[in-house]
Amino acid sequence: MATDDNDDLPQPFDAKKLEPAKKRQRSRSPSEAPRKQKRPGQRARIPDAQVASFRQRQEQREREAAEAAATRAVLAQRGINDVVREHYNAVPERGRDWRKTDSRIKGLRSLNNWVKSTIIQKFSPDEDHTPGAHEHGRDMAGAAHDLLVLDIGCGKGGDLGKWQQAPQRVGLYVGLDPADISIDQARDRYRSMGNRGGGGRGGRGGHRGRPPPRLFDGRFFIKDCFGESIEDIEIIRDVGYDLSPMGRSGFDIVSMMFCMHYAFENEQKARRMLENVSGALKKGGRFMGCIPNSNIIGERVIEFNKRMEAKAKTQSAPAKAEGTDASAGADAGASADADTDTTPTATTTAAPPKEDREEGEAEETAEWGNELYRVRFPGKTPADGIFRPPFGWKYNFYLHEAVEEVPEYVVPWEAFRALAEDYNLELQYHKRFADIWESEKDDHILGPLSERMGVRGRGRGDLLVTPEEMEVANFYVAFCFYKV
Ligand SMILES: C[S@@+](CC[C@H](N)C(=O)[O-])C[C@H]1O[C@@H](n2cnc3c(N)ncnc32)[C@H](O)[C@@H]1O
Repeated sequence: MATDDNDDLPQPFDAKKLEPAKKRQRSRSPSEAPRKQKRPGQRARIPDAQVASFRQRQEQREREAAEAAATRAVLAQRGINDVVREHYNAVPERGRDWRKTDSRIKGLRSLNNWVKSTIIQKFSPDEDHTPGAHEHGRDMAGAAHDLLVLDIGCGKGGDLGKWQQAPQRVGLYVGLDPADISIDQARDRYRSMGNRGGGGRGGRGGHRGRPPPRLFDGRFFIKDCFGESIEDIEIIRDVGYDLSPMGRSGFDIVSMMFCMHYAFENEQKARRMLENVSGALKKGGRFMGCIPNSNIIGERVIEFNKRMEAKAKTQSAPAKAEGTDASAGADAGASADADTDTTPTATTTAAPPKEDREEGEAEETAEWGNELYRVRFPGKTPADGIFRPPFGWKYNFYLHEAVEEVPEYVVPWEAFRALAEDYNLELQYHKRFADIWESEKDDHILGPLSERMGVRGRGRGDLLVTPEEMEVANFYVAFCFYKV
């Protein structure tokens, strides 16, 4: 029998629609006659067609639930790697001119690049990287051998020019990244550097006035360096892959810029990453990089949890006040003060009190940022700001023009440092970006470099990084370990 009542057709499962449906008036019989009481034991007078329609709808819901579960299982299998890879593949390469002039975060880009150049300048030379080496003619421009550099998570090859300007000449640069399109772009960038005859803005090596050094041999491979061993790449084996502390062959440098946080999804990945780093390094080789600052993350998480605790007290205060606890009012006042947190960047909007929240609405979680960046934890965070166990603390990170809500993982610094020791990696250097700026900005090489890179105006001019950009920069630390 055909029916005009669309509701009888199989409908997609929609939980929200189910609720009002329950409250719907029963349809009246055509005769408008008062309903007769059903006799006990008699099947309700539901027409067979309606029973069939209910059954049909139920089956449809079950089918859809099964399909949704299957999709979730596929997504879970795809895992974070694909999400991250697809994100970086999709970030457009907008060219140096755009990055230098039109980008809203050009100051941040310049500062980040300058910090990366700084650690390359300070820690890549093989032997004498002590302050003053350059002034005393002990710089490495004519060092005995050319550096072998492995750049894990090389992305679009943004650091190729920095390596070309390293104080000690680079002989081989190997770039690895799981994002295939990024690897193509890195290769293109390398080729165009070759067409321009190498060159760059000059670093501690001071190539200004001299012909730029011959462009290094550059090789690029698509590789997940946290899920797989890199030993299966021929050039890695040719240079030398050896986990033992005795290994004399291997790369001089493994660099991992803004990338290692993806490895802290679980212990297996973090260990695989360190195994790859240590296996590829020669004894005495350096492991350098930049990662988010877990101390900052910990502080923010503590602030957030304190606010939540104060709010919970405020909410329970009226109940207490009705009883005999005279101090409850004072408590509530203190909590209200705590709620009016004036930290400019922390999220201060109060979560709706539980009773105002829609059913199923998620509880408030730690979140902060400014107009340029945002960090958002999807779940609970430790009240003391210490991330235990040190793996799997996921947050979503957004950075204007650069990163669209991509999942990252906290790298708890002390745990990472201890783990690195298991792989014969000994800490040499660990500094926040703002501190690196303060301590190196007047260096007679790195200072002028900061001007050429647009971090500040010419002639020791003003800092061209806005306070909002500096806050993002301070979300990061740079580090260097030695393989011992
Ligand atoms: C923020 S980008 C940094 C790119 C480059 N190092 C730079 O500083 O310009 C992070 C890079 O890490 C890479 N990455 C993510 N997971 C990785 C993995 N499992 N192995 C190697 N690289 C990975 C991404 O594909 C992306 O290119």
